[in-house]
Amino acid sequence: MERDIKILAIESSCDETSAAVVVNGRNVLSNIISSQIDIHTKFGGVVPEVASRKHIEVVSLVAQQAIEKAGITFDDIDAVGVTYGPGLVGALLVGLQYAKGLAYALNKPLVGVNHIEGHISANFIQYKDLKPPFVCMVVSGGHTYLVYMKDYGKFEVMGQTRDDAAGEAYDKVARAIGLGYPGGPKIDKLAKEGNPDAIKFPRANFHDESSLDFSFSGLKSAVLNYLNQKKMKNEDINRADVAASFQKAVVSFLVDNAMKACKLKNVDKIAVAGGVAANSCLRETLKNAGCEKNIEILFPEIILCTDNGAMIGSAAYFEYMKGTRSPLSLNAIPNLKLGER
Ligand code: KG4
Ligand code: ZN
Repeated sequence: MERDIKILAIESSCDETSAAVVVNGRNVLSNIISSQIDIHTKFGGVVPEVASRKHIEVVSLVAQQAIEKAGITFDDIDAVGVTYGPGLVGALLVGLQYAKGLAYALNKPLVGVNHIEGHISANFIQYKDLKPPFVCMVVSGGHTYLVYMKDYGKFEVMGQTRDDAAGEAYDKVARAIGLGYPGGPKIDKLAKEGNPDAIKFPRANFHDESSLDFSFSGLKSAVLNYLNQKKMKNEDINRADVAASFQKAVVSFLVDNAMKACKLKNVDKIAVAGGVAANSCLRETLKNAGCEKNIEILFPEIILCTDNGAMIGSAAYFEYMKGTRSPLSLNAIPNLKLGER
């Protein structure tokens, strides 16, 4: 039997400082997450400079806790995995510098991980037998991708957003209707009290009908226009109806394209990843569509959907097994693309 590979992974690309110990890419021994949400809520969104400073304050403590909770010592790990992009450059640099220092001091390999690849890998933790090929939909605050995962570490981007990410649209619309940050969970909750068919918000039309791309900025503008018109006419705004109608527009776009992607690649599995994968309407609508078309729909549990170190530990393992070793000169790449190194 092959020896277990233990990876200590560090994630600091946005507003969560996280460290995790993951065995063989699938078994999580610890997943410590220190969230900055309360701090950024005051500003209505993530303030990059504040995020970097908070990461500095907690990163070594979070890593230490991950090791302790896993019941191991730093010497027991086989490699240090770390997110090096995409994300906020200052925030990424904090985790990266810490990971590099640790790898050097312990004389262990460093494995740089793409944050999006991490989100996708959360599914390998949730579903122990999951193997490629499958279609993955990554929907987060910064990214919206439809990806065909041919093999471990091999991705083909089939569609992506041409402007705002799905989570970004949620956050912007939430702010417009006075719900605050982060908007996704708040719209999700309020929409349950509203009528999704109350307002018809448009879907972006592309010239190329076969495109699996997304666009959400027109939808966001349509919501803002609707709110402005109502205000100008001094009419009441039913915020729950706005939330539910907006959500229906986002979710139907995501679900339609995801189903088309499966058909195109002739696969019978869609794995969803990223913060918006926590959305209850997306979960239900996609599951229903999957039932109809005999497609299995996979969602990681909520804690694995939003940013966390365990997903980075899983992706780092598969990279490690492919032979990926990053130099100590590895730099943060804020706009790192999926499949690029
Ligand atoms: O993946 P994530 O934690 O961070 C990024 O890498 O961006 O995603 C955060 C995003 C935010 O835009 C947040 O509003 C959204 O995920 N989100 C949700 C829900 N929970 C988090 N969006 C819709 N419904 C939710 N329940
Ligand atoms: Zn993320």
